[in-house]
Amino acid sequence: MKLSSVIGAAVLSGSAYAASYDDIPVIKAYGQHFFYSNNGSQFYMKGVAYQQNFSPNGSTSTNVTYTDPLSSKANCARDIPFMKKIFTNIIRVYAIDPTVDHDDCMELLAANDIYVVADLSEPTTSINSDDPEWNLPLYERYTSVVDSLQKYNNVIGFFAGNEVIEKANQTAASAFVKAAVRDTKAYIKSKGYRTTLGVGYATADVPSRDELAHYFACQPIDGTDTSIDFWGYNVYSWCGYSNYVASSYGERVQFFSDYPVPVFFAEYGCNDGIVGGPTHRPFTEVAVLYGNMTEVFSGGIVYQWFQSENNYGLVQIEDNEVVPEPDYTSLMSQLAKVSPTITASSAYTPTNSAPACPTTGASWLPVASPLPAAVNAELCDF
Ligand SMILES: *[C@@H]1O[C@H](CO)[C@@H](O)[C@H](O)[C@H]1NC(C)=O
Ligand SMILES: *[C@@H]1O[C@H](CO)[C@@H](O)[C@H](O)[C@H]1NC(C)=O
Ligand SMILES: *[C@@H]1O[C@H](CO)[C@@H](O)[C@H](O)[C@H]1NC(C)=O
Ligand SMILES: *[C@@H]1O[C@H](CO)[C@@H](O)[C@H](O)[C@H]1NC(C)=O
Ligand SMILES: *[C@@H]1O[C@H](CO)[C@@H](O)[C@H](O)[C@H]1NC(C)=O
Repeated sequence: MKLSSVIGAAVLSGSAYAASYDDIPVIKAYGQHFFYSNNGSQFYMKGVAYQQNFSPNGSTSTNVTYTDPLSSKANCARDIPFMKKIFTNIIRVYAIDPTVDHDDCMELLAANDIYVVADLSEPTTSINSDDPEWNLPLYERYTSVVDSLQKYNNVIGFFAGNEVIEKANQTAASAFVKAAVRDTKAYIKSKGYRTTLGVGYATADVPSRDELAHYFACQPIDGTDTSIDFWGYNVYSWCGYSNYVASSYGERVQFFSDYPVPVFFAEYGCNDGIVGGPTHRPFTEVAVLYGNMTEVFSGGIVYQWFQSENNYGLVQIEDNEVVPEPDYTSLMSQLAKVSPTITASSAYTPTNSAPACPTTGASWLPVASPLPAAVNAELCDF
């Protein structure tokens, strides 16, 4: 989903104190999986998308700004206990405000063993699908988010774009997103930040999904580090009581079985097709995602925490209290039943290598090299 309407004012409170975000073990990508750095145990994402995404007037056409969900200690304290009950170990945040302090929420999250993956863009500063650029305002936005979150051990990494390619004629934008991946990775390295901070992309489930996955993971021979560290897949193909084959999950497992980096559902939870069926999402895909898909997929992130007009919410907030929706309860009961096979990193040897870059043609425009030029902040300043 792209954020189309987001409102509200960020309220900041509190100051830093001895922090569990310094103590929580870092998660690192190794081959196709994620592992805890302390004991080498495999990490599967049991996630939820945490973003207020609504307009009070029921309209999506008003001027909007965004609310950073990690800017309010009170809201984090209100929501996290309910996240824990549905086994949440990671949240995805879409619109970080780099000018506010995140210590309180990151502390509360870490104390509850919850990790974060954060988008680098925000609704009005993102790579444009139809008129793509990778420019100084975007670079400054991206690097300021990295700066504001890099110190927290419970940050797994970042998305350099979300659903930038949505239509068949937008494949050219991929090169700009890949340039953003390259420059964000170079920035993390140049600042001496933790190198386990990954940079990935969250793709929509579009016809060019195979080329996209290969393009972002391929390594052109010019020696620059341009490939993603993980691949996020926003997928809404399992609706109601679907199944492994009809949802095309099976086909996706096959496709990604030789992928070199971790893949996970960066959003999932279709809510179509429940007319005449269940009255809420049954989340029957959970058994499969954490069952026979685990050799290839590292779990997923349910879309989304807050109820809104699009009816994807797991909870309502009423009088500042969390009121679970039926979806929350069914997700909880499905997740309670799963116990994915845990591989130890010591018992795992990655065997997959980078795919070939897709051949360009009528339906796939971007070349893998050269990518759009690096944004050199210092030069541009003069
Ligand atoms: C490894 O450490 C993590 C984080 O502390 C913990 O959740 C997990 O259960 C541990 N795994 C094993 C096999 O001890
Ligand atoms: C939205 O609602 C607020 C508060 O009720 C009101 O002040 C504002 O004018 C409304 N905006 C629009 C575009 O209707
Ligand atoms: C939206 O914001 C722009 C720029 O701040 C302003 O020019 C425009 O009038 C606003 N539109 C509405 C409907 O408030
Ligand atoms: C893609 O097609 C739409 C019309 O369907 C057009 O508005 C848009 O500008 C096109 N984008 C590109 C990158 O050509
Ligand atoms: C995965 O599980 C589903 C549902 O339990 C089943 O239909 C499918 O055949 C399984 N696939 C594999 C590869 O085991």
